[in-house]
Amino acid sequence: MKTSDSPETGIPARVLRYETMAYGLFLHWGLYSVQAEGEWYRHHHRIPQEAYAKLMDRFTAEAFDAVALADFAVSAGFRYICLTTRHHDGFSLYDTRGLNDYDAPHSPAGRDLVAEFVEACGARGLGIFFYHTTLDWWDPRFDADWDAYQQYLRDSVRILCTEYGKVDGLWFDGNWARRDRDWQEDALYGMIRELQPDAVLINNSSIGNLGAVGHPMLDAVTFEQGLPARKAPGGRYVAKEMCETFNSHWGVAAKDYSLKGPPQLIETLASCRGAGANLLLNVGPLADGSLSAYERAALQVVGEWIQRCAPCLYEGRPVDAVCRGRDFVLDDGEHLYAFVHNVPIRKNMHLSGAERGDGLQTVEGTLPEIRRVSWVDNDETLDHWQDPAKAMLVFRATPNPYGSQRVVRVARMERG
Ligand code: GLC
Repeated sequence: MKTSDSPETGIPARVLRYETMAYGLFLHWGLYSVQAEGEWYRHHHRIPQEAYAKLMDRFTAEAFDAVALADFAVSAGFRYICLTTRHHDGFSLYDTRGLNDYDAPHSPAGRDLVAEFVEACGARGLGIFFYHTTLDWWDPRFDADWDAYQQYLRDSVRILCTEYGKVDGLWFDGNWARRDRDWQEDALYGMIRELQPDAVLINNSSIGNLGAVGHPMLDAVTFEQGLPARKAPGGRYVAKEMCETFNSHWGVAAKDYSLKGPPQLIETLASCRGAGANLLLNVGPLADGSLSAYERAALQVVGEWIQRCAPCLYEGRPVDAVCRGRDFVLDDGEHLYAFVHNVPIRKNMHLSGAERGDGLQTVEGTLPEIRRVSWVDNDETLDHWQDPAKAMLVFRATPNPYGSQRVVRVARMERG
């Protein structure tokens, strides 16, 4: 893992480190989880504040076990977790230390849930990211006294930057709600830089504005539910991150059955890495703080795929090479890796029907001499040829040994 600023590029070490974190777990959890109709529940139904605040009486967090959660995240291949410390409804999972009583310690949970989260992640080496809303439906100053609201926002974020040890990133969301306002970003980010010099700064540009480069102090651009483009946004260097829902909501939505499955999640993760971006994949814990059985199981499968088939995706950076279709090449410094989609399957016509292709894969671009190509998942050697100028490499993707293999498959290309 890189620990110092890159001398050639001047890219800050925190950004390089963040890029190798590669795969993050996003957790949207708050009062809205009690209702299980998504995190915009209050807004969609125009629920008055007093009625909405009653959800607090049922927010017990009785099954929120930060240690078990962190263990699960590590086993599923995540390298960081981003937790909604406060969402648009204004309710904080952390102790607001007198700023208001609208926080987890004043609910039946009676605990500082952010403190538990931080301790568990820190002990397991998981990156600690705090989502914090900037849009606020609860605090009247948001509409009535902008400067006072901005001060309240900074005071809130100051707590997160001073009371929980080292933080790896701050993830803001909501500026898109009032594009005409002065969000006083210099002051907010300046304060964070002083208190947490190694924290990556992110501010979601929103679903309608994917990959937009914002304030000069921000370290990364976001792609909300949209695949990142490989091309750099232009201008100064920024990291890229796609944030993606598990179904179509961020907070738990009990009747949303549009749940994704492992193949889609694996291919999204692969595509993000092919574009040089992180994937921040969301699940909405249930009201009690536990994860749904289905989501846990699906994430475990993805984690197993990473471990067995593509551990290179953490350190691997995209190589400038032209491949077939959505295929791409990563370089982790030691080897190159070709990510191959739709590997032909011809092993058993009774199982998988007549599948296309002779398996020949072409990689065009200036590559080092490659002495061996093999599948990562079973170490089978694949035939390969390189032209004398090393501007093209061809290898034969063999069928899966037992039938179908329809998710992206990874071939290791060892330097000669
Ligand atoms: C959008 C939504 C918000 C969610 C965020 C996550 O901005 O308003 O509910 O937290 O996306 O990316």
